[in-house]
Amino acid sequence: MEMDTIIEPFRIKSVEPIRMTSRAERERLIRQANYNLFNLHSDDVIIDLLTDSGTSAMSAAQWAGLMQGDESYAGSPSYFRFEEAVKDLMPFEHVIPTHQGRAAERILMGIVAGEDAKIPSNTHFDTTRANIEATGAEAVDLVIEEGLDPERKHPFKGNIDLDRLEALLDDDAAHVPIVMLTVTNNSGGGQPVSMANIAGAKALCDEYDVPLILDACRFAENAYFIKQREDGYGDASVKSIVREMFSHADGMTMSAKKDALVNIGGWLALDDDEWAREARNQLILTEGFPTYGGLAGRDLEAIAVGLQEVVDEDYLEYRMASTRYLGEALTDIGVPIVQPVGGHAVYVNAKALLPHIPPLEYPGQALGVALYTTGGIRGVEIGSVMFGRQPDGSEEPANMELVRLAIPRRVYTQSHVDYVIECFETLYDRRSEIQGYEITEEPPQLRHFTAHFRPLSPETVHRESSPKALE
Ligand code: F0G
Repeated sequence: MEMDTIIEPFRIKSVEPIRMTSRAERERLIRQANYNLFNLHSDDVIIDLLTDSGTSAMSAAQWAGLMQGDESYAGSPSYFRFEEAVKDLMPFEHVIPTHQGRAAERILMGIVAGEDAKIPSNTHFDTTRANIEATGAEAVDLVIEEGLDPERKHPFKGNIDLDRLEALLDDDAAHVPIVMLTVTNNSGGGQPVSMANIAGAKALCDEYDVPLILDACRFAENAYFIKQREDGYGDASVKSIVREMFSHADGMTMSAKKDALVNIGGWLALDDDEWAREARNQLILTEGFPTYGGLAGRDLEAIAVGLQEVVDEDYLEYRMASTRYLGEALTDIGVPIVQPVGGHAVYVNAKALLPHIPPLEYPGQALGVALYTTGGIRGVEIGSVMFGRQPDGSEEPANMELVRLAIPRRVYTQSHVDYVIECFETLYDRRSEIQGYEITEEPPQLRHFTAHFRPLSPETVHRESSPKALE
């Protein structure tokens, strides 16, 4: 008989202590951090949901693999084991290791982008967008309409809008050097892209002779969504789905810090010989020789083993179930979240949860700080703090005010997640007492990392026109 309870499919051999803190202590710590969660020391955090990137727990087999790491400058056997593991899933001609995903992006964009280029995607991740824009090119997001509405349900909310992609190619294919797809779509809530959509994008790319590149950080989670949700894939193995996904692509960028289950690493893979030659030349300038690319041989070994483990279906079943478990429990409490639950994170809709806080008093920031003081939980604001400051210096509310709770892989157990849920129950009952914030100091760019905040007192919160920060 099959059991209903989905358990963590691993035992724990090595543990890291969590230092417990009191509410009074956390109130002092967050005040000293100027109410910016990035300024906290991570050992003052009880449950750290800031990111799923580089925070995975490695397996015993990965740790054993580290000892096999060969640190030769050129031609290390560790590189060849890494290359073989990548090609087993993603059969591209050239596999070029990098220290993390953004290095692969920078090298690729240095070759293909530049003034007047336009690079469409479902939604570019921030670093991809920044690397495109740094060359003078334009990054174009073409996610389907459903993908922009937090409440709207759709099985593949990460899909690219093929009509808009076709219109762009029809209009200006000469200026489109590559088309990208982010799987899963992180900036859109960790939402998957269907096989039909990947194949549809490839068919358009072929028609206009433009290569398709996957930003494939969370490829295994995307493949598992295809298995669960797309007609015809229920009985296919995840490995065969992964291979089919990549059979439609001409290359990929990868952050191994996600679905390769390691703490650092990435790669760029390409079929085109000329682009690969240029990429290796760039790699030597800034990352390292092509058989290590800024990584140690032992890092390459850990990736090779991680790639085998991440397509294990018991692992993926547990992975998706644990994210869904948190999302469904928050929904039951009444906490509004981006629907349906994505693969690597739950995104809380702070604007809907805290309607008494106007966008420019930063409801996402307010919820993030309240989560920390209530239970020592750290998420990340994705809203007007992150996106509100405009290039001309003015301030506009972001489209959404979200707090992302990203789940590190194989790190927390169900009781840790139950603790997070209990904190939300407490917060939900006291949500009307949560106050907004003003910014007292900020840098000219990427202000969310270092800005200083001050809580608005209860009297100023409800004033009709409260003075705006930094006018
Ligand atoms: N692409 C996507 C979709 C990502 O989510 C990330 C990183 C990158 C590229 C860049 O990879 O960090 O190895 O250079 N996302 C992390 C996050 C930082 O928290 O979502 P990197």
